[in-house]
Amino acid sequence: MSQFLVQLGNSATLVESYLAAALSKQQNAGTPPRLAEAIRHAVLGGGKRFRPFLVFHSAALFGADQEAALPAAAAIECIHCYSLVHDDLPAMDNDELRRGRPTVWKAYDEWTAILVGDALQAFAFELICGPESPSAANIKADLAHVLAVASGAVGMVGGQQLDLEAGKLADQPQPTIASIMHLQAMKTGALITAACEMGAIVGGAKPAERAALKTYGEHLGAAFQISDDLLDAEGSSADTGKATGKDAAAGKATLIGMLGITEARRHLDRSIAAAIAALNVFGEKAEPLAEAARLMGRRDS
Ligand code: IPE
Ligand code: IPE
Ligand code: MG
Ligand code: MG
Ligand code: MG
Repeated sequence: MSQFLVQLGNSATLVESYLAAALSKQQNAGTPPRLAEAIRHAVLGGGKRFRPFLVFHSAALFGADQEAALPAAAAIECIHCYSLVHDDLPAMDNDELRRGRPTVWKAYDEWTAILVGDALQAFAFELICGPESPSAANIKADLAHVLAVASGAVGMVGGQQLDLEAGKLADQPQPTIASIMHLQAMKTGALITAACEMGAIVGGAKPAERAALKTYGEHLGAAFQISDDLLDAEGSSADTGKATGKDAAAGKATLIGMLGITEARRHLDRSIAAAIAALNVFGEKAEPLAEAARLMGRRDS
């Protein structure tokens, strides 16, 4: 196995056990049992944990250890899991398989899935701001602010709105390359970028270093969604753990739909190169982040 995959696996294990413990604590504090079970279904036992990896390895550029970055890493994974639970709802992408298992609404019901997402969003901020995080108050506030902006109407939620408008509303303007890139920067890029910035915050990065990581995250986010769209077009449900071959029929605005696979791959390669270029200021120590960008060109899940 490549060193990169070992590092990805290590950060996944770390964040998984942190989340399992934090959720048990919340469960014992009085979460209704069925909600607690559905939250565990949404969060534990699956997922690449790519955003936590970005938090850990962005923080590591500045010598911060994984313990210091864990609350932020776990928090952004909670927001991501909430976004997936809502994304899969019948009113949105109407999917029944996620991470190789039934989606939350399928395993429980729609109202529980909505509440799981709501609870996870709140839980993310509890993790960042709570007494168990070792960070100073000003760091916690900065982390919470970056995550809130990236999650909301000018970030992931806004992007989901545009994504669904393209597929579901009549008389929508013809998508352009710029409108697709904008939509994807919001729905996916915002959280990927926030993960990198949150690592910079935990690590105490200087403004120019934080800006470089933000640029890296923006290009990586673009690459991430193009590669996700390629997996929908070319990948298998067995590998990805979710339904494939649905975006075109759902009228999703994607570069593949607009330009075809070959040209979308060119955009992907350009985004990967731009992401890696943004890391130049960090030299050799940014190799794990550079490898994360290269992975976007050869994902199978
Ligand atoms: C899928 O994200 C949703 C998108 C933003 C495209 P991931 O590919 O990171 O999903 P998991 O967390 O590994 O399941
Ligand atoms: C979802 O994009 C992005 C989110 C904010 C959840 P997709 O709808 O393409 O993600 P998948 O393919 O269902 O994982
Ligand atoms: Mg979607
Ligand atoms: Mg979806
Ligand atoms: Mg997709």
